Parts: sequence; structure tokens; C-alpha cells
Amino acid sequence: MNKFPPFTRFDGRHSRSNKRVIPGWSVSPKGLAGLLLLTIASGLIPLRVEAYSKGSDDAGTEGIDARLAAILTNLKFTGKMESTLEQRLGRKLNPAVAKVGQMLWFDTVTGLHDDNTCAGCHAPAFGFGDSVSIAIGVQSNLVVGPGRSGPFNQRRSPKALNIAFYPALMWNGRFNAPSGDPFDNSQGFLFPAPEGSLQFPPHDPVIKHLAQAQAHIPPTELTESAGFTGTRGTSFSLGPRFDIFDDGKGTPIPPPDSAGFRNDPIRQAVLDRLNLIPAYRQLFGDAFP
Ligand code: HEC
Repeated sequence: MNKFPPFTRFDGRHSRSNKRVIPGWSVSPKGLAGLLLLTIASGLIPLRVEAYSKGSDDAGTEGIDARLAAILTNLKFTGKMESTLEQRLGRKLNPAVAKVGQMLWFDTVTGLHDDNTCAGCHAPAFGFGDSVSIAIGVQSNLVVGPGRSGPFNQRRSPKALNIAFYPALMWNGRFNAPSGDPFDNSQGFLFPAPEGSLQFPPHDPVIKHLAQAQAHIPPTELTESAGFTGTRGTSFSLGPRFDIFDDGKGTPIPPPDSAGFRNDPIRQAVLDRLNLIPAYRQLFGDAFP
């Protein structure tokens, strides 16, 4: 069923440079990633979970509320985690910044293939999770919901709801905060190679939260949103099984950088697209005066 093997070959490094593509205000990689965190976080606030129910008529469930309450207490579950966000961040939420993040979350501009974005896989109607059993990235039928079809990726998209509070992300926790606190970058953030432990170093003044670091990754994934355009017949083709997905649509995948990775060139290509859109430059300018 899964048509795509792992993409470790094209996992790349990310550049620390903030290139200005057009004179005036421009979008930086860190700014872009930070917004995605805020989008996720700001989407959470109205959603409250009650830790108990008001009772039941079913005799077979006698004591179940107390037992459940004991378990939840033991797990330190309050149902009010989201209300701690500003305190954990150490600042107020900034609605102008959250607005840019909201726009990016739903905009295929972040996917070079022009047909997928975060919300294609992490859909609000599904708890910011998947609407199908295994994620479908590029070349979908553009439906988000049970009718979504297209080439499968390898895994189901987890819910992005509440991830701002998780010290480890992804199904196996491979993107994580060694400090044990996603709001604490004093030990940097750990990602698999080639990002490794050096890409998001301790005390980075901008990448302060694990989710900011995480957001650097999805736009670089060929299967998820970047696509395969321009890869067929090149030295960096993944072979015939993937060449069939080079449909010529969207922005071509840039060649690897001198280190042999394409994450940074892809990120820069996404920034170039954003910088060509005056409305985004205005939005970013308003959010980061
Ligand atoms: C093609 C579908 C797809 C797209 C597009 C996508 N994701 Fe994901 N996302 C996934 C899958 C699948 C995983 C889990 C992968 C794994 O564990 O190996 C995941 C994991 C995550 C997680 C970790 C959640 C957790 O509970 O650990 C976050 C956060 C996340 N994605 C945010 C984003 C953001 C931000 C974007 C847009 C920039 C994005 N995703 C785009 C499919 C997608």
C-alpha cells in the first residue's frame, strides 16, 4: 500500500542565513517556522476537555468516575493545559503573528508542488490530525476528509493539537527536547541526522521552542508537499519508482547544495515564493515590525 520508501537521502541541513530576496521586508526561515507553532497553539485555546462526567445511570459503571478521576490525577491531567500556554511561553500571544501562521498553515505556497500544506494532512476537522489512515501528500485529489485519495506516504499524521506541550514529537519521539521541556532550549533540540544535535543549538535566540524547530522539516519532504518536479533523469533522481511522480507541476525541486542535501535549497525556494507575494510581505511586516 505504501508507495514511498524512506527519504533519508534527501534529509538536509538548514541554513542559518536569512537571505533577503527582494529589498525590503523578507520572510526568514526561523520566522516561518515560529509562526507554525503559534498557529497550532492558538488553535487550541477554545477547546477545553472536562476531566470528569456528571454521572451515569448504568450500575455496571459504578465508581467509574472516581476511578477515572484517580487515573487522571495520577497522570497530572487537569484539562487546562492549554490555558498555561502564555505562562509557559513567558509572553502574551501575538494575534498578528498567529494570523500569519494561520495563513501559512492553510496555504499550498509552502509546498513547492502547489497542492499540499500542513492542513492537507493535519486537518482541523480531525483534531489537526489525519482524515485518512495513511497520509496522502502530493498529487492528491485535493480533498481533505474521508474522500481524500492519491499516492500514500508511509504513516498516519498524528494530531497536531497540543503538540506545543510535548517534549518529544513524531510517532517515535525522534524530534525532541533533551531538557525534557519543549519550552526549554537550554540543551538545544535533537533531530535525526543530518539535522542532528547541531542544527538547533542550546540557547538559540530565535528557535526557543521544539515546535519551531519541527516546522522546518515538512516543506522539505518530497512526498509530503515539495513534490518530485525536475528530479526525473537527474543524478539526484530516486529511481524509476519515484520518477513516475515527476509530473512537471509546481516549482522544480532545486538541486542539492554543496553538502549534498536539498533541505536548505527547498526552504529557500519556499521563501522565494513567499517573498514574491506582496500580501505576505505585508502580513509579515505587520507581525514583525
Ligand atoms: C503528507 C502529510 C503531512 C503534511 C503535509 C504535514 N505533515 Fe506533519 N506529520 C505527518 C506525519 C505522517 C507525521 C508523523 C511522522 C512520523 O512520526 O514519522 C507528522 C508529524 C507532525 C508533528 C508531530 C506531532 C506529534 O504528535 O508528534 C507535527 C507537530 C507536525 N507534523 C506539524 C506539521 C506542520 C507544521 C506541517 C506544515 C509545515 C506539517 N506537519 C505537514 C504528515 C504531514
